[in-house]
Amino acid sequence: MVSSRELFYQLVNSPGITEIQKAARFLYLIKRSFGSKGETFGTSRKSGGAGFASHYNMVELMKKVHTRLDRTIMENLSYELIFDKYDGPANFFYLDPPYFKGDKYYGFGSFDHSLFANHLKRLSARWLLSIDDCDRSPELFKQYEIIPVARQQGINMKNPKSTVFKELLIMNY
Ligand SMILES: C[S@@+](CC[C@H](N)C(=O)[O-])C[C@H]1O[C@@H](n2cnc3c(N)ncnc32)[C@H](O)[C@@H]1O
Repeated sequence: MVSSRELFYQLVNSPGITEIQKAARFLYLIKRSFGSKGETFGTSRKSGGAGFASHYNMVELMKKVHTRLDRTIMENLSYELIFDKYDGPANFFYLDPPYFKGDKYYGFGSFDHSLFANHLKRLSARWLLSIDDCDRSPELFKQYEIIPVARQQGINMKNPKSTVFKELLIMNY
């Protein structure tokens, strides 16, 4: 489908009817929107933005997604329920909880990091957690291995003005 602002907003406002329509709508909206949020058409004066991205490779992308998601289960549950279902010594969790600074962005209300840390203590699975490097994080997770890392912040990685963001990788193994 061509990249068009009009088409973009038609799709935003018209949920698909069949499963194929829903899938095509989802793909179009995440590929053509600002930050892949599916909300606003992604253009910018300088780079052209998401709306300008090539769609020649969409079929290839779908094949890759299909391969990646083969034998994958998606759950949309709070972490306590996920831990109940899947914890075990042979398993591994990668955990990417809301940051200390920014938990308001996710629509769950504020996230209780202390409660989360208590749940982690009870897991028999190995886990790796990434979290923002602020005052509270090293304190809350001090009994674990902690590796500080830095990454570029911001959706547009080409933006030279984007700042460096410090995170911690924390693991129980
Ligand atoms: C830092 S983001 C993770 C983003 C994710 N790794 C990704 O690439 O899209 C934190 C995520 O934690 C989710 N979250 C908030 N409270 C949660 C809870 N109680 N249980 C599970 N997930 C929760 C938020 O919805 C948000 O998607």
